[in-house]
Amino acid sequence: MPLTRLIVQQFRNIKACDIELSTGFNFIIGPNGSGKTSLLEAIYLLGHGRSFKSSLTGRVIQNDCQELFVHGRFLNSDQFEIPIGINKQRDGSTEVKIGGQSGQKLAQLAKVLPLQLIHPEGFELLTDGPKFRRAFIDWGVFHSEPGFFEAWGRFKRLSKQRNALLKTATSYRELSYWDRDLAQLAEQIDGWRRTYVEQMKTLAEEMCQSFLPEFEIKLGYYRGWEKDTPYGELLERNFERDQSLGYTFSGPNKADLRIKVNNTPVEDVLSRGQLKLMMCALRLRKGSILQS
Ligand SMILES: Nc1ncnc2c1ncn2[C@@H]1O[C@H](COP(=O)(O)OP(=O)(O)O)[C@@H](O)[C@H]1O
Ligand SMILES: [Mg+2]
Repeated sequence: MPLTRLIVQQFRNIKACDIELSTGFNFIIGPNGSGKTSLLEAIYLLGHGRSFKSSLTGRVIQNDCQELFVHGRFLNSDQFEIPIGINKQRDGSTEVKIGGQSGQKLAQLAKVLPLQLIHPEGFELLTDGPKFRRAFIDWGVFHSEPGFFEAWGRFKRLSKQRNALLKTATSYRELSYWDRDLAQLAEQIDGWRRTYVEQMKTLAEEMCQSFLPEFEIKLGYYRGWEKDTPYGELLERNFERDQSLGYTFSGPNKADLRIKVNNTPVEDVLSRGQLKLMMCALRLRKGSILQS
């Protein structure tokens, strides 16, 4: 679903720009500070509703302006150009338009504009906490499983309720009703993630191997709780521990994509340059899997 046109207004140092894009490669060239990264940031914002550089919308809106606009056109699978757009105000309000219709959700934008960002600090994917790798898996699942977004949202809401209930419950029976739904969602989410990782694992390993031929690279999926135990059973068994912690310790919220190089965690083996190469390999492969 390539972008064919991009209109950016009042975004960092870009007052207004309107560019036609190639559906293949586009190279953006200019002196330091001319707005190249800002242009990428604008595309990212169009697909994610937020910047990859700052969580504060106020930083991204051009100084002395009240709002920013990013509009684009993408080619859908029937080769029709569909307009999409996002407007953000200083008060944090966001308006999303797709195909001329206002009031659309950010998830809809993410659906029509799948993006993979590769940038110099991006190897947090490999060196930081599991949440980055979970997001890596979930991006693929989101684009391949129509029910994922809703199920994951429900899982997070139910988990929150469960954590609140843990603080007051006097016996497991008070939780068992909620846990049935939670367990079903957890198993479903786990199944989707597992299938996705199985599909991409060998291809991703091959891509990493071709970028870093001197290492043996293996990916493995960790679902967030021990193997062979149904999630419902685990919740019941860990009730007392969870209660003393005040939250549910194990579950799909702890899932991870474990990456080993020569059987050792990546960050212990690879240099920063090699980590960057590996991050590129993983992101490129994930993009190509989506296209196929
Ligand atoms: N909110 C803002 N309003 C106006 N200018 C901004 C804002 N935020 C950043 N800038 C400026 O915009 C420029 C951004 O440049 P950047 O996109 O990083 O350039 P490049 O990647 O081409 O080197 C910088 O000069 C920066 O000072
Ligand atoms: Mg730059």
